[in-house]
Amino acid sequence: MKRILVTGGCGFIGSNFVRHFLNSVDDCRLINLDKLTYAGNPENLRDIEKDPRYRFVKGDICDSSLIEALFDEEQIDTVVHFAAESHVDRSISGPSEFIRTNINGTFMLLEAARKAWLSTSHLSPLHARFLHVSTDEVYGSLGETGLFCETTPFDPRSPYSASKASSDHLVSSYFHTYGLPTLITNCSNNYGPYHFPEKLIPLIINNALNGKELPVYGDGKNVRDWLYVVDHCAAIMTALQHGKLGETYNVGGNNEKQNIEIVTTVCDLLDEKVGLLPSGDARQNLIRYVTDRPGHDRRYAIDASKIKDELDWEPSVTFEEGIRLTVDWYLENPEWISSVLDGSYQEYYETMYGNR
Ligand code: NAD
Ligand code: DAU
Repeated sequence: MKRILVTGGCGFIGSNFVRHFLNSVDDCRLINLDKLTYAGNPENLRDIEKDPRYRFVKGDICDSSLIEALFDEEQIDTVVHFAAESHVDRSISGPSEFIRTNINGTFMLLEAARKAWLSTSHLSPLHARFLHVSTDEVYGSLGETGLFCETTPFDPRSPYSASKASSDHLVSSYFHTYGLPTLITNCSNNYGPYHFPEKLIPLIINNALNGKELPVYGDGKNVRDWLYVVDHCAAIMTALQHGKLGETYNVGGNNEKQNIEIVTTVCDLLDEKVGLLPSGDARQNLIRYVTDRPGHDRRYAIDASKIKDELDWEPSVTFEEGIRLTVDWYLENPEWISSVLDGSYQEYYETMYGNR
């Protein structure tokens, strides 16, 4: 039986992963440890919260006594670590939480795993896994050509990416120094259901639906490599089950797009699905070029050949399919987006669990 601790399981990718894991593995116990910051939304897991295999714990990955108690009480043998401050713009306006959670929090988790798996003896490290979910942003920014591979030197440019690079180094150091059974995945931009509407795709869907301006940073020609979130979850499962300890795997969607192309695609899809704006205008008329993000990385692109060749994972959803699935999900779940926008999602935990 797998006894897995997922951190940050109420966030965008974490909640998709919790659902994916419970649908894929019968014999398991899954503990979701999440602090419920502004980005954590327990409603994302409303459909599985009564599953007897699932336990939610509201808590901070920086709280070492809480994490150590969870390892002990639940005999955790697997960690999948998503919890992080994840938004680049917020890291520019207020970096300190990024340093605390992304660096110190990862350190606390590593220490708890080391104590549980290597100092005491309830588990053989042979069966244990600590998978750290990281980002392609640690590699910096590409020019017109080239791809990030696992050996590309780190060159983070924002407080967010610097904090993630730091956490990656810590994870790697625990493998080399202590023999902690670690894996790292560095993934490109995800999109799909439950994506918080501060990020480009859900922000544009929501604004375009409501006839609001669509802010495009700089010249709109920055490039990201988009991956449908369920494919990312499958890649993490693959790395967990078949990855070689101590290794890093890059995960990408083979879907390089300029931001402006993303924005116009979403506008056109919404015009097609819900009709033009009440004024009779096409939604592309809402596009506004705004001041660029400081230090805005120009292009990210992933070489995902290692995970394909060694572990037989590749994305299954094309961008054209994935963006339609995503727009449909937002159209079918207006109550999710409105509870996020009016803040009422933050009351859901209190309603469900009281003060626990
Ligand atoms: P998110 O911001 O949607 O969710 C983060 C979750 O972590 C939230 O539920 C939040 O409440 C929780 N959290 C934050 N601080 C915490 C703390 N101190 N203790 C416990 N829980 C805490 O993030 P996401 O987009 O789902 O990203 C998840 C992970 O994947 C992050 O580590 C991120 O760096 C990485 N990643 C994201 C992308 C992407 O495109 N979104 C791509 C590559 C890698
Ligand atoms: O590459 C992986 C990373 O992708 C993850 O590590 C991060 O956690 C995740 O947030 C994401 O980072 P980005 O900065 O690439 O995502 P974001 O959605 O914020 O921006 C995508 C691109 O769109 C980026 O070039 C900035 C631009 N942008 C963004 C917003 C919010 C705009 O032009 N307008 C906007 O309003």
